[in-house]
Amino acid sequence: MKRERNIVPVRDPENWSATSWRQKPAVQQPKYDDAAELSVALNRLGQLPPLVTSWEILALRGLLADAAEGRRFLLQGGDCAESFDDCSSPLISNRLKVILQMSLVLTHGLKLPIVRVGRFAGQYAKPRSADTEVRNGVTLPCYRGDIVNAPAFDAASRRADPGRLIRAHAHSAMTMNFVRALIDGGFADLHHPEYWDLAWVEHSPLQSEYRQMVESIGNSLRFMETLVGSSVAEFQRVDFHTSHEALLLHYEEAMTRQVPRHWGWFNLSTHFPWIGMRTADIDGAHVEYCRGIRNPIGVKVGVSTQPDQLLRLIDVLDADNEPGRLTLIHRMGAKHVAKSLPPLLKAVKSAGRKVLWCCDPMHGNTESVGNGVKTRRFENIRDELDQAFDIHAAAGTRLGGVHLELTGENVTECMGGARDLTETDLSRAYKSSVDPRLNYEQSLELAMLIVRKRGDVGCATGNA
Ligand code: PEP
Ligand code: CO
Repeated sequence: MKRERNIVPVRDPENWSATSWRQKPAVQQPKYDDAAELSVALNRLGQLPPLVTSWEILALRGLLADAAEGRRFLLQGGDCAESFDDCSSPLISNRLKVILQMSLVLTHGLKLPIVRVGRFAGQYAKPRSADTEVRNGVTLPCYRGDIVNAPAFDAASRRADPGRLIRAHAHSAMTMNFVRALIDGGFADLHHPEYWDLAWVEHSPLQSEYRQMVESIGNSLRFMETLVGSSVAEFQRVDFHTSHEALLLHYEEAMTRQVPRHWGWFNLSTHFPWIGMRTADIDGAHVEYCRGIRNPIGVKVGVSTQPDQLLRLIDVLDADNEPGRLTLIHRMGAKHVAKSLPPLLKAVKSAGRKVLWCCDPMHGNTESVGNGVKTRRFENIRDELDQAFDIHAAAGTRLGGVHLELTGENVTECMGGARDLTETDLSRAYKSSVDPRLNYEQSLELAMLIVRKRGDVGCATGNA
């Protein structure tokens, strides 16, 4: 069997198979009421072509290893949940535009290449706080994302429908196909950042700062090209990777494949699956599944995560301490991060573990206002991120990435930001059926704040 150079040879983990998760407690799974129908769908899914390739996955592992060493910065972002209805040309390209604009701000400010990872082309399954929902005395299964059921509150919509597994694959493939075509067609060419302008943005308070960066990058690019005498191919395209929460294990299992030229097993539905907060139990099915695949793995880490528990989790998921294998995504909340994060950083650093640390400043800062509307305050999101940079600097570790929920649409779901959205603004354009997302301006503003903050704490801090 061929082993790649530069990647520590790793054996398949003991007693693991793509189905071994079935022997473990699997939380957050729907109840399918027709086993035969489920089995037909899974067999079909198992025959459908992959959405990504093993070489893309291994290349991303290399990029994440660089980010852990401070040579790149990870920008991971997209919707909390995709929906089949939102699989449309403007929504996909607008999301791509925001991520591209943010990455341009980050590249310019941090002087580092950015690893762009979308929460898309498969982010269809959602963990929920309760299995059922009650309205006016009627109890139905909760909505678990479009890959499982539909949000409308009636029995037919809420039934876990195995046919949706196939539709999720198809919608992921359509999204992926469009993203790849845009990128191959020059959409992400640094010579043409005007392609990324959003039609609906008229007078953003951040536009002049952004324009200056575009101008300055354009000048440097032209200067370099004059020196080398040709256009620099590297800037004509950028790479984009996909990620989603590896939640619905039947789907992940069916997309787990072996490939001719690399050893081991790959989840070929996405480059970068992550384990959510509610499914990170070391003895649970999700950790069991993820330990055996060769994709880079993200794990959400919250206030309840204890240092010894985290170290055991790392031992299971990254037995060989391989660079780029594990990304720890902390999501503590602005109020808790100062207390909860340092013990984890200390434990992981003392154990000599090579992980990439990434901050998700969204999920610890969700709150309800008014009559139960879910929102997040920009202030808190910014504050958690600010604190995270300082805490890493003080611990001698490195914050190498950020994980955000954002959209390219003009929504009003998070409060605050340059336009200081208030509680009354929320009703104007609240579209998310799950978590509130940063809109375009808030996303760009956050990218600018990251640049300022990294400038303050210094790029050289942290030698983890
Ligand atoms: C999410 O990323 O959408 C999510 C549910 O996050 P967490 O698992 O951290 O709560
Ligand atoms: Co979310």
